[in-house]
Amino acid sequence: MSSMTKKPWLLFALLLIMSFYRACFSIVGDTLSPGHSLLESDTILSQGSKFELGFFKPGTSSKIYLGIWYKGFHEEIVWVANRENPLSHPSSSRLELSENGNLLLFEGSSEIPVWPTNLTFPQLNITEAVLGDDGNFVLRGRSNTSTIFWESFDHPTDTLLPGAKFRVINKVTGKPQQLISWKNSKDPAPGVFSERLNPNGSQQFLLEWNKSQIYWSSEVYNGTSLRSVSESTLIFDVSFVSSKNESERYFNYSLRNPSTLARYRIDQTGQIRILLWLPVASVWNTFWSTPTNISDVYALCGAFGVVQYPDNSSNPCECLEGFKPFSMEDNRLNDWSGGCVRKSPLQCENNTRANVKKDWFMKISNMRLPVYSKEYNLALNASRCELACMENCSCTAYAYNRSGCMIWEGALLNLQQLPYGGKIGQDIYLRLAAAEYPSTQAESGKKWKVWVAVLVPATGLILCLSICFSCKGRLKRKDQTGEIPSSYNLLLFDFDAEIHAINDEMNTNNNMKKREKDAELPLYSYESVLAATNNFSTVNKLGEGGFGPVYKAKLLRGQEIAVKILSKRSGQGIEEFRNETILIAKLQHRNLVRLLGCCIEQDEKILIYEYMPNTSLDFYLFDPTKKKMLGWETRIRIIEGIPQGLLYLHQYSRLRIIHRDLKPSNILLDSEMNPKISDFGMARIVGGNETQANTNRIVGTYCYMSPEYAMDGLYSIKSDVFSFGVLVLEIVSGRKNTSFYNNESLSHLRYAWELWRDD
Ligand SMILES: *[C@@H]1O[C@H](CO)[C@@H](O)[C@H](O)[C@H]1NC(C)=O
Ligand SMILES: *[C@@H]1O[C@H](CO)[C@@H](O)[C@H](O)[C@H]1NC(C)=O
Ligand SMILES: *[C@@H]1O[C@H](CO)[C@@H](O)[C@H](O)[C@H]1NC(C)=O
Ligand SMILES: *[C@@H]1O[C@H](CO)[C@@H](O)[C@H](O)[C@H]1NC(C)=O
Ligand SMILES: *[C@@H]1O[C@H](CO)[C@@H](O)[C@H](O)[C@H]1NC(C)=O
Ligand SMILES: *[C@@H]1O[C@H](CO)[C@@H](O)[C@H](O)[C@H]1NC(C)=O
Ligand SMILES: *[C@@H]1O[C@H](CO)[C@@H](O)[C@H](O)[C@H]1NC(C)=O
Ligand SMILES: *[C@@H]1O[C@H](CO)[C@@H](O)[C@H](O)[C@H]1NC(C)=O
Ligand SMILES: *[C@@H]1O[C@H](CO)[C@@H](O)[C@H](O)[C@H]1NC(C)=O
Ligand SMILES: *[C@@H]1O[C@H](CO)[C@@H](O)[C@H](O)[C@H]1NC(C)=O
Ligand SMILES: *[C@@H]1O[C@H](CO)[C@@H](O)[C@H](O)[C@H]1NC(C)=O
Ligand SMILES: *[C@@H]1O[C@H](CO)[C@@H](O)[C@H](O)[C@H]1NC(C)=O
Repeated sequence: MSSMTKKPWLLFALLLIMSFYRACFSIVGDTLSPGHSLLESDTILSQGSKFELGFFKPGTSSKIYLGIWYKGFHEEIVWVANRENPLSHPSSSRLELSENGNLLLFEGSSEIPVWPTNLTFPQLNITEAVLGDDGNFVLRGRSNTSTIFWESFDHPTDTLLPGAKFRVINKVTGKPQQLISWKNSKDPAPGVFSERLNPNGSQQFLLEWNKSQIYWSSEVYNGTSLRSVSESTLIFDVSFVSSKNESERYFNYSLRNPSTLARYRIDQTGQIRILLWLPVASVWNTFWSTPTNISDVYALCGAFGVVQYPDNSSNPCECLEGFKPFSMEDNRLNDWSGGCVRKSPLQCENNTRANVKKDWFMKISNMRLPVYSKEYNLALNASRCELACMENCSCTAYAYNRSGCMIWEGALLNLQQLPYGGKIGQDIYLRLAAAEYPSTQAESGKKWKVWVAVLVPATGLILCLSICFSCKGRLKRKDQTGEIPSSYNLLLFDFDAEIHAINDEMNTNNNMKKREKDAELPLYSYESVLAATNNFSTVNKLGEGGFGPVYKAKLLRGQEIAVKILSKRSGQGIEEFRNETILIAKLQHRNLVRLLGCCIEQDEKILIYEYMPNTSLDFYLFDPTKKKMLGWETRIRIIEGIPQGLLYLHQYSRLRIIHRDLKPSNILLDSEMNPKISDFGMARIVGGNETQANTNRIVGTYCYMSPEYAMDGLYSIKSDVFSFGVLVLEIVSGRKNTSFYNNESLSHLRYAWELWRDD
């Protein structure tokens, strides 16, 4: 030390020599040798001049990174060494291959490397670092170049180059290997989106948000190609290599034409892209990307951000009303993950103070709702739901639909504004500070809407009423003379005796006379029906089916029956009606409602059924409170019972009967909640081996009709199967098929499928 202070020129000369030495020898073609350094202004070029390694500054950023890019394309960074630890002093940054064999990235005079390869070698000077023409930066043995100690392909950033192995498990760290998106287009720091292979050994890709929420998975590799990228087979070969050794399971791909420039990356919008360089057009072209719809990327717009539809790809995100972007700067760089923040803070905590205005809820319509609600309470109705949210200061929004009350706490993620008349959307009520309440001027502008809202239903009501009255007018009995057969007194009908009679018949089966009598459908007098239903009093009315009102009737012995008046629209002759009714009355199945008899008075046709105390399925299914009484066991029993009744109608009864109007209101429930198919008003009997028929008069309820029946009037037993399918969806979901009508493109089926897909 003392000698040095005496001779400062010596130190100076040494430094000068050292720096000269560095400047002269820092690049050795494609190789970095021990003791040598790569400075900020230098680059290593692969042998075929395809790739270049060196320091770069993304965009206007002042930060410096060590990376690899396609030679000539400084923007196409395919690998970054220090994505999390940028350097900031260009003049003193260097990559060194130390004598101990490691690659080290230094900044300034610091002796602690910003980025080391962390390997231990038994001897000095045994390694060299080479940039290959495949874009792989390799630390290999000097004497034996096929010994590889470290390679950049094992540490990918956001890009998988042709030839690289995308492993299930990173063989260095033992953790799942991932491609992680850049934070934004100017910052290689890890972003929120990542890609990996399914760790369970299934040969498919998964895309994840925040390393937790899987938002896309590819189909499973079938051995030759991935269907979703099958168009790429002209350009790529792909393969999955499986092995017992977990770290030797990987995906790789290669280019059919090795001179093509290509990269497979996950970008900061959460999409995977395959980019190809098109020399003719001089552009990097997105050859393929997924998810195709940016709105399918989970939480793309961050907290309180909304994906717009149709998406405007330069800025797909907006903030909810009352919110502003967290960082406009990031947004401009295609990074919306910061989301949005409130313009005015909520006052919930301060609500007890006198001069503080309460928070309020703003309704936002037709939204794709956030996935996880804190609470899902079936019991709460709309106003209780609002109250529950208002009382909880961490509640940020609530939504209410037929299936209950949903409450969200904290950030709202993955919101999307859906197009009107497109996918199904729902209303969400967002909690905002009183300061965000819209001014009264904005309100008055909407007044005409209120008028329209009042006028339209009113007109509708008048129209509806006038139609009803005209119906009633037509209901008035015409004077018509017809031969009326002798009839029984309904009031004296003995239900129990009837049941016994049938049982007897089944048991003995030899009383021919009795059988003949039973085959004849009891015909009751109109007077007795009037008496039993108390003159069709409204008190006794059970409901109104598609084919007329249904009344409850009480017989002298106290038994209860149901009486259905068929409207005259059916246009069926009395004889025809009677013949058909007799046939239907012969149907005996535990899942069919029993027809006990009928009554014909001039052109009025009345059917008498057994009474079902638990009314019909729709009564329970679509009522927010009553649906809770339908447990899964009951629902399964109902789902199982209906097809048994149908099978009997279609196949095992003596006739082949097509019901044609299967729907919840036609599924009655007995005291034990067993389903019984009712309302054969539209049923058609087809010949023994005839399975299909045609009608020019389409009856039934549209949303339960198979398309070929609804459109062409073609019906078969399959029409009932179709209706049953709709019914099952309704029973499982508790939602009416028609509840999807406001959202044309989303059907019940699609809804079910999406729920299934979203687990
Ligand atoms: C090297 O080791 C340090 C400390 O264990 C660690 O933080 C760093 O990530 C390692 N570097 C690499 C490239 O693995
Ligand atoms: C390692 O290489 C450097 C530069 O080539 C040299 O100065 C040094 O003496 C070598 N060390 C050994 C142990 O061979
Ligand atoms: C070089 O290394 C490879 C693999 O590590 C080995 O198979 C080969 O025998 C070595 N060659 C020589 C000449 O040492
Ligand atoms: C792996 O998981 C996927 C779903 O994440 C599943 O479809 C697949 O069957 C699973 N494969 C195996 C082998 O368990
Ligand atoms: C991302 O996940 C981490 C832990 O897995 C969690 O702490 C963090 O809150 C998540 N980020 C967001 C925005 O939810
Ligand atoms: C795999 O899928 C591709 C594209 O769909 C198809 O062409 C190929 O025949 C399939 N291979 C096998 C083995 O099923
Ligand atoms: C699995 O493969 C890795 C690297 O190829 C190797 O280091 C490891 O020893 C292998 N493990 C087993 C259990 O064979
Ligand atoms: C994947 O890697 C294996 C082993 O290196 C190789 O045999 C295979 O050809 C590669 N597949 C493709 C499509 O490049
Ligand atoms: C994106 O989604 C919308 C509706 O969700 C759909 O209409 C459109 O076809 C989709 N675009 C693509 C390219 O799949
Ligand atoms: C409540 O009032 C105090 C005093 O005015 C204020 O500092 C605080 O930020 C308020 N809290 C909220 C949540 O707005
Ligand atoms: C009703 O049935 C009787 C006896 O089975 C039959 O003779 C008559 O033609 C049928 N009438 C009609 C309209 O089908
Ligand atoms: C019943 O089916 C057989 C063969 O399928 C056919 O030959 C016969 O004509 C059919 N009978 C009627 C009444 O349609």
